[in-house]
Amino acid sequence: MSIKEEIDRLTEELKVYQDKYYKEGVSLISDTEYDRLTDRLIELEREHPELQHPDSPTRRVGSDLTNDFPEVRHTIPVLSLDKAYSDEAVLDFFSKSIQKEGGALSFAAEEKIDGISMVLYYEKGILVRAVTRGNGEVGNDVTPNILTIRSVPLSLPESIDIAVRGEVYLEKADFENLNAAESDDAKKAANPRNLAAGTVRRQKSSEAGRVPLTIFCYEGFWGNKEETPSDHLHILSKLKSLGFRINPHLAFFDSDRKEAERKLEDAGLEGDAYSFSEIDEFIKKKTSERKNLPYEIDGLVFKINELGVREEFGYTEHHPRWAIAYKFEAPQAEAKLLGITVQVGRTGRITPVAEITPTKLGGSTIRRATLHNQEYIEELELAIGDSVSISKRGDVIPAVESVVEKNNEGNTTFVLPDECPCCHTKIVQIGGLQYCPNYDCPDQVKGRISYFASADQMDIETLGPKTVELLYNAGILRRVEDIYTADYSLAADLPGIGEKSIRLLEKGIKESLKRPFVIVLSSLGVAEIGKKSAELLVRNGFDSIDKILHASDLKDAGAFSGIPGFGELTGTKIVEAFSSEKLRATIEGLRKAGLHMDSSQDEKEDADYDQIFAGEVWCITGSFRNFNPRTKALKEVEKRGGRTVSSVTSKTTHLLAGEGGGSKRAEAERLGVRIVTEDEFMALIGGGKEESKGDGQLLLF
Ligand code: IVH
Repeated sequence: MSIKEEIDRLTEELKVYQDKYYKEGVSLISDTEYDRLTDRLIELEREHPELQHPDSPTRRVGSDLTNDFPEVRHTIPVLSLDKAYSDEAVLDFFSKSIQKEGGALSFAAEEKIDGISMVLYYEKGILVRAVTRGNGEVGNDVTPNILTIRSVPLSLPESIDIAVRGEVYLEKADFENLNAAESDDAKKAANPRNLAAGTVRRQKSSEAGRVPLTIFCYEGFWGNKEETPSDHLHILSKLKSLGFRINPHLAFFDSDRKEAERKLEDAGLEGDAYSFSEIDEFIKKKTSERKNLPYEIDGLVFKINELGVREEFGYTEHHPRWAIAYKFEAPQAEAKLLGITVQVGRTGRITPVAEITPTKLGGSTIRRATLHNQEYIEELELAIGDSVSISKRGDVIPAVESVVEKNNEGNTTFVLPDECPCCHTKIVQIGGLQYCPNYDCPDQVKGRISYFASADQMDIETLGPKTVELLYNAGILRRVEDIYTADYSLAADLPGIGEKSIRLLEKGIKESLKRPFVIVLSSLGVAEIGKKSAELLVRNGFDSIDKILHASDLKDAGAFSGIPGFGELTGTKIVEAFSSEKLRATIEGLRKAGLHMDSSQDEKEDADYDQIFAGEVWCITGSFRNFNPRTKALKEVEKRGGRTVSSVTSKTTHLLAGEGGGSKRAEAERLGVRIVTEDEFMALIGGGKEESKGDGQLLLF
């Protein structure tokens, strides 16, 4: 058999297997055999690319090469639909259309799938391009990812030129499964549409291929006008016979139900027939069925059936005049995107922010809304001048949810600048996010100082972002550690800062010296160390900065990643952060200023304890009435000079034994370690229910 013959045979054979499997769910051969044949075909095609069939089943196999999604011009107008929010508005559309036409009309009603709009371009019956809607004129070529969608035909039974519009989507159940399998919360998608949008733009098509996207097609545009069917029903039935996936939940409206039935039958389509007067009944039925559908729909689309009338009615700038979308819900708020500004956060993270026309939402007026990152902008295909719908997520942060209407100005999808807008350093990409890598970037420095001083952190009351900005610009504050050494008398002349505020500032700074180590640690601004992780670090033995610095010196990422709740990456990032000379200089500056760099400094502020446990080694077992969690009892030991350990060994001198506790007690007995009960311990540390210390302070146990 010649190479050509082998390629031809494998191609045919694999196509049959694929069709059987994806269309009928029937496996004709084993998975291993299937993979073997596919690998063989890939190999032959690689050696003889000229012999590859344009619809070779190997085109479905995604690749690990990085996709870029070049902008391409649509050859058909890719418009969106005018909207209606009530059944009266739909009926109004019907009657106005009939009036305008001056004769009988019929209407198709389809579900409005909440997915990603896609145009599939076929030349001589072969799929050559799949393009996103973009701004309606120019979209992104996402072909490599769309090829992995089994319900998108790679070739047609006829050698025709045709553009087919459809909606790429993900079923609800597949979305739930994929999201449940995603361990990183930050990577979980909010809804099936977001996940589908992300998948369509995945950089590796091999990864896109793992998401079971599918498509419903709903419009066809024939290259040869003469081949165009005469009405929408015949378009759908033709698309179906060409192998496209058509939504079976079709409804059809005519002046008379019988007539509607007849037309459906004539086109050979299944569907529900209605008369115009039944429109509200139909909308009610669909509204209640909506939640039971396996996919998400956000409305219903009503389209004039007769294509001649469509041509006659034509288009506005944005919409066909021959169709309308009934939406189940009105958007929370609509605004125009005036511009996109780019913010640099304290960790260098670059966040695009939408500047919108002032819009009332939930009792306040919104002018800005977050856009998260470049990926989010691309998924929305967002351009300046677009009308967008805004919501308040979790009722707090306003976010841009979707594009309601594309701009008229020809603007295409916004692209973040490649330089930091503040210090002009080249932006770097880390895990789909954009960062300014310059630690000394003024916006980052100001952000770090403000964060350090904020109420949740060191709580230096008068040092808010505005004051930080003033002091930074005047050259008085240039690093976090400067807070404790700056000459604030220089600030007296600055606008908005008087002598009184300087006095308050200095008082605030002095008070901040008392904050516990755990707060100092989380205030350093290390991206991975917020309040919760700082507490975890301290509780897991990293109760002084020196212990953290030491582990970083040893590049011991495992010491951090071993902490429950910390991932491997977090460990590496912490080591990296504490290896930075700049952070170390900040730490030394703060240490010199007298900030707590060790948890043991924290309590000493309140009282000095008699070091009655000096030289002793204590272990703990069981549960306690007075100490919950029981680590509180260990703190009492440490305050009084004792060392604490987690297991009983020959070096252990005391076992503090509460209720329960098994193996440690047995081990202590075996080794002759002194066992101390809770009551005995209370007596040792001099604690009753409420014990008064000599200085009049109450110690609560
Ligand atoms: S017809 C010119 N039919 O909704 C005709 N659109 O704003 C244009 N959509 O961009 C569209 N299901 O992405 C049509 N059955 C359906 C649809 C549908 C979902 C989407 C489509 C379009 C948007 C309309």
